[in-house]
Amino acid sequence: MVTTPTENVTKGLEDVIAGTTSICTINPANESLLYRGYSATELAEHAIFEEVIHLLVEGRLPKKRELKRVVKLLVQERKLPKKLVKVLKQLPDTANPMSVLRTAVSFLGAIEDNKQYSIDETKQIAYSLIGKLPFALMTWYHVSRGQSVPKVTKTRSYAARFLQLVTGREPDELEERIMNASLILYAEHEFNASTFSARVVTSTLSDIYSAVTAAIGALKGPLHGGANEAAMELILKFSSPEDAERGIMDMLSKKQKIMGFGHRVYKKGDSRSYVMKHYSKDLAERKNQTKLFEIAEAIEKTVKAQKGLFPNADFYSAVAYYLMGVPIPLYTPIFVLSRMSGWSAHILEQQSDNRLIRPRALYHGPQQLDYVPNDRR
Ligand code: ACO
Repeated sequence: MVTTPTENVTKGLEDVIAGTTSICTINPANESLLYRGYSATELAEHAIFEEVIHLLVEGRLPKKRELKRVVKLLVQERKLPKKLVKVLKQLPDTANPMSVLRTAVSFLGAIEDNKQYSIDETKQIAYSLIGKLPFALMTWYHVSRGQSVPKVTKTRSYAARFLQLVTGREPDELEERIMNASLILYAEHEFNASTFSARVVTSTLSDIYSAVTAAIGALKGPLHGGANEAAMELILKFSSPEDAERGIMDMLSKKQKIMGFGHRVYKKGDSRSYVMKHYSKDLAERKNQTKLFEIAEAIEKTVKAQKGLFPNADFYSAVAYYLMGVPIPLYTPIFVLSRMSGWSAHILEQQSDNRLIRPRALYHGPQQLDYVPNDRR
């Protein structure tokens, strides 16, 4: 017999526990973010992104030898199949970079065997995608603008290679550290919308390419990953901290949302944002662009005072990317490059202990209407 759900519905599934995980949680006592038990902000300070990839995908921090293997694997995996390069070259320069990444993953899935992948095979594909995606994105980006794709220094970190791919120059140590921290802080976040999408797709016994394609689609939206770009565009509209305060007051009086603020889970502040604020301040001072940082701070103060809302991970990450010379349309794609590690961990976890995810809906439409033939309607 079909049962009728009668429970109260929580719009947007707010605070609904939709499954179990051992990958990530938010400590309710202090709202700190934990990856497999380790503080994400501590990892951002001390670890390299490659270590965190291993932590999330394999379930533990790598030993020295294991870290070397992951670093080497990601360098090797940067090579793109010729067929993919051909597809990337056909995409217009006006394409949304998130659509480019979504297409790249989907295409890589299409040129592989269409079979059910074992857990080990899924893991290998995960590493391969993590290695390839920065190169796929930046190949399209440069080629579509008539530029050559910069060569990378293979011995540098994932973070440094990405910055070099974007700007064409080797980043300095501070820039590398900041990009590394940002990649770590964006890597994983429990059952957020994109990760949940990936788990739903995996639960149908579909493959990792399909799950990641869906996840990128979910992350593209401005309420999720897209907020970092919108936040930067907002900051750039203002000419001074005073101008920012006036502008934000005006937006709030019109009930407009300020991108880069608020969070479904964090109500006291997003620990990731404090790290990125600190780094973007350092960078602003180093680059003599303190006015930009002061404008961002004025926005933060005004939103906090008026709405009691805190900046989320997106707000100061945007400031840091801007100061490092990363073009704004690449901000959300950076989130993809990082979150690939968290998505992979969740896809593997779902695959290892699967049950189809298929919730019910509380129906509030009409009941048992009589069908009226088309010519009598
Ligand atoms: N600016 C202004 N007001 C806001 C903001 C904001 N950024 N965020 C929430 N509010 C207000 C809402 O207008 C609402 O007010 P009301 O009760 O007077 O109508 C109240 O706070 C609750 O907001 P909801 O949107 O219902 O909160 P929800 O939990 O659904 O949303 C979300 C969380 C989507 C992140 C929201 O805060 C938002 O839209 N922020 C801007 C987009 C953004 O920065 N997204 C990035 C998320 S973090 C990440 O992906 C890394």
